[in-house]
Amino acid sequence: MPPPNEFPEGFLWGAATSAYQIEGSPLADGAGASIWHRFTHLPGRTANGDTGDVACDHYRRWESDVELMRSLGLAAYRFSISWSRVLPEGRGRVNAKGLDFYSRLVDRLLERGIQPSVTLYHWDLPAALDDLGGWLSPDSPGWFADYAKVIFEALGDRVPMWATLNEPWVIVDAGYLHGVNAPGHASVAEAPRAARHLLLAHGAAVATYRAGGWPHRIGLVVNLEPKDPASNSAEDLAATARAHAYFNEQFLDPVLLGRDTPALAPIYGEHWRPWSAEELARVSRPIDFVGVNWYTRALTRHDPARPPVFDARVVPEGAVRMTTGWEYHPQSLERTLLWIRERYGDVPLYVTENGGAFPDPTVAPAGGVDDPLRVESFRGHLRACRAAIARGVDLRGYFAWSLMDNLEWSSGFTQRFGIVHVNFATQQRTVKASGGLFREVIRTNGAVIGD
Ligand code: BGC
Repeated sequence: MPPPNEFPEGFLWGAATSAYQIEGSPLADGAGASIWHRFTHLPGRTANGDTGDVACDHYRRWESDVELMRSLGLAAYRFSISWSRVLPEGRGRVNAKGLDFYSRLVDRLLERGIQPSVTLYHWDLPAALDDLGGWLSPDSPGWFADYAKVIFEALGDRVPMWATLNEPWVIVDAGYLHGVNAPGHASVAEAPRAARHLLLAHGAAVATYRAGGWPHRIGLVVNLEPKDPASNSAEDLAATARAHAYFNEQFLDPVLLGRDTPALAPIYGEHWRPWSAEELARVSRPIDFVGVNWYTRALTRHDPARPPVFDARVVPEGAVRMTTGWEYHPQSLERTLLWIRERYGDVPLYVTENGGAFPDPTVAPAGGVDDPLRVESFRGHLRACRAAIARGVDLRGYFAWSLMDNLEWSSGFTQRFGIVHVNFATQQRTVKASGGLFREVIRTNGAVIGD
């Protein structure tokens, strides 16, 4: 274990993005539409009607973007693959040009000494599969495994770190329960079905990876959030316990403990069905790491007017908020990392996303982009990581979200998370002060964050 104020040797420093948020050119070179392409083109679904048609234009600017990563000193780059670029209909025919884009990107990253970390699914299901039921279809785990096999066969020898899904909780909660994300469904009945199929898909992809004998590591990326009660009332305490089970345990319990979470029964009510032993065996195949995406904690208040799955999140008065409205509470990241070890044992962990949206100008001033809140946010969260490591947590790396400002899903371009500023009118990239800090963090293996 390193001394308390240091990060372990070989700690992996990276930055993260996802395909639909940065690539643009969603239909180029024979790609099929994804549910996000479809969703952003519906009226009223995103802020200002923003779409990923251009986004950061990374599909065309990837080469200079890799040089940008290199200038930041990144040791790793986490990105996702657009399923419908590679399989325009979601299954069957492979679009060689789509696959080639990612193959060239991986080669260039390796040439530049940057480790690729690939996420197979960051929310952009092929629209053709949504037409067949999407994640509500019992066939979806099989579709996903077939897609994963195509990608493993193309890149499996070169990519050392794989994630199956990014944040199944958000896919379910925002996509199927609240309808604010693609595919835009709002149904308490659908949410647990989608959750089950996503986990079965995860398990099927892990099985495919193991069966193919690829030599590297594969894991799952979840978003976690400590839940605290808004008051000491029995109702709020019960709501907090529910919110914790729904958010933090729903996906990790089946994968890491091989059991379902009985606390979900009162949350999903009549729509809950316990998992069979056979299903649990399929989702709990051993994985090599868990990726944790972490942004905030949540105070929870019972909402008597709505079903239990809709317990309300409140932000305490006087709290610092990000522009997303989330409470800034970096010290709570330490709790989350400790909680994982306590509940699930010594699984290797990476913080696969952490960052914050703070006010930045749309055009970078000549003197550069000063983002003191984001600078402080990185310092605070990295101190929390360091403290968790000092207490024995097997945390092996940290990826900033995000490499650059991008399309923040239904919030469009209104939320900036980048350590690099993007002027969306000109596509000019400008490293922010937080990017400068991150470069120093990497250079000093974290020593620069101070106490
Ligand atoms: C997602 C990212 C998103 C970020 C900030 C995570 O939920 O993986 O795609 O941009 O949080 O909201």
